[in-house]
Amino acid sequence: MEQKGFTLWFTGLSGSGKTAMAKVIAQELRARGLKVERLDGDIVRQSLTRDLGFSKEDRDKNIERVTFVAKLLTRNGVAVLCSFISPYRERRAKSREEIGEFIEVYVECPVEVCAQRDVKGLYAKAFAGEIQNFTGVSDPYEPPENPEIVCHTAEETIEESVAKVLGYLEEHGYIPPA
Ligand code: ADX
Repeated sequence: MEQKGFTLWFTGLSGSGKTAMAKVIAQELRARGLKVERLDGDIVRQSLTRDLGFSKEDRDKNIERVTFVAKLLTRNGVAVLCSFISPYRERRAKSREEIGEFIEVYVECPVEVCAQRDVKGLYAKAFAGEIQNFTGVSDPYEPPENPEIVCHTAEETIEESVAKVLGYLEEHGYIPPA
């Protein structure tokens, strides 16, 4: 059976668990023999979108470029895993339209919990005013209104969140059952 391409679009605050989830799911999909590509904010921003900052305009450009890549991969039968804060609802809606097979995963986690985790030490800096326009602290995040999947990473284990996503993909015929 030929693999049907799709994009899993992980959106949520910095430190919510987008990358952690995408990494585990990528492994799982590869183990099932699927072609997988992972696009991640922290990595893409060192290359394809190196020239961009965190203004609304730049964030939208970041997502616009990544969406173009995800579209090409998706139509060539790849399972694409995109992890970007992607804070703006309207921009995510455009990505959905362009990519077509677009599965939005809202990685929900209260900002207090993300700040407590503070994996990269950025929340401390944001609260101290050393970083401007930090999402959830001094910049907006617009939660999805109709995501295909919601994961509450402050309450669920990563295994539970991952199982939700894999279950969705199986139920909707994107991947064969394990
Ligand atoms: S997006 O808004 O354009 O979708 P993206 O996911 O690519 O953001 O990058 C977010 C990452 O950049 C964060 O996880 C964090 O490591 C880093 N970062 C640096 N400055 C900021 C900021 N002002 N707001 C949010 N994230 C920032």
